Amino acid sequence: MTKQRLYSGMQPSADSLQIGNYIGALLQWRGMQDEYDAFFSVVDLHAITVPQDPAQLREKTRRTAAQYIAAGIEPSRSTLYVQSHVHAHAELAWILSTITGFGEAGRMTQFKDKSQKQGADATSVGLFTYPVLMAADILLYQTDVVPVGDDQKQHVELTRDLAERFNSRFGDTFTVPNPVIQSETARIYDLQEPTSKMSKSAESHAGVLWLLDEPSITAKKIMRAVTDSEGSVRYDRAAKPGVSNLLTIYSAITGRPVAEIEDEYAGRGYGDFKKGLRDVVVAEFEPVRARALELLADPAELDRVLAANADRAAEVADATLAAVYERVGL
Ligand code: ADP
Ligand code: NA
Repeated sequence: MTKQRLYSGMQPSADSLQIGNYIGALLQWRGMQDEYDAFFSVVDLHAITVPQDPAQLREKTRRTAAQYIAAGIEPSRSTLYVQSHVHAHAELAWILSTITGFGEAGRMTQFKDKSQKQGADATSVGLFTYPVLMAADILLYQTDVVPVGDDQKQHVELTRDLAERFNSRFGDTFTVPNPVIQSETARIYDLQEPTSKMSKSAESHAGVLWLLDEPSITAKKIMRAVTDSEGSVRYDRAAKPGVSNLLTIYSAITGRPVAEIEDEYAGRGYGDFKKGLRDVVVAEFEPVRARALELLADPAELDRVLAANADRAAEVADATLAAVYERVGL
């Protein structure tokens, strides 16, 4: 039996990924590589929907790819490439935009949130059509499953609608993909503001654990994480968001159930618990960080791997795009 196709990606919006990206995306992706024919993209075309510095963008793109590999995405097994290297993404996005309703695109809540923050004049049309580009990303590879955070669920729904619409108007062309929504328990919050999602685009970095931070910095951030005055290591998301978040991280990295970790630290203070977590996270990050830095020390080799993977991606993408051109009369 041939394997089902999987597609996912991340924006190169920072020099380092954060622990939420690692737990919520990279660890899941790594575990899905055997079961699926997987395509993992660094979505640099998406990143320019907000203003960018060209040299920094190119560097962040490389760094993001290096962290994918360092975290265990194998470019010899999965297809790991940079979105802009495969021209079919932008081309298919244009065609899909012609079958997307203006009102339909206007209902995307992520656009409404982001554009409200930026104001109408600072908001680009590219940010508005971002979900159409995402649909193109997914549909080009005849994708069966798309692992995403729940904030992307609406975009995958749009992708499904566009695939069905295209198929019924022009004949069967696209596989209709299914989202795999990451579980709530894999959601990581900011260590200083444990009710906000940890994000690589957060304004303050004090509560963000970066994959590429020096171990001593990671250790400090964990020891300074916000907790509460109760003093017991107990999971209660509403009443104890800080401690619950630390328990989530501990459990996700060790693979141990939260209840077992609560038992281990019963009757001990937050200091002990944080030291335990510090050791777990520092040990987990250390080889990932070392491998990423090693890959980044040889950019020519990294670029060669990415180019070879882009060729592989383009083979699949170009075949889909050729069928699309033919069907629509181009
Ligand atoms: P960020 O907010 O860090 O910029 P993105 O929105 O680019 O992250 O998401 C990239 C991937 O990382 C997605 O799969 C998303 O679900 C996952 N992710 C991002 N932040 C977190 C988090 N705090 N907890 C769990 N998963 C996360
Ligand atoms: Na982001």
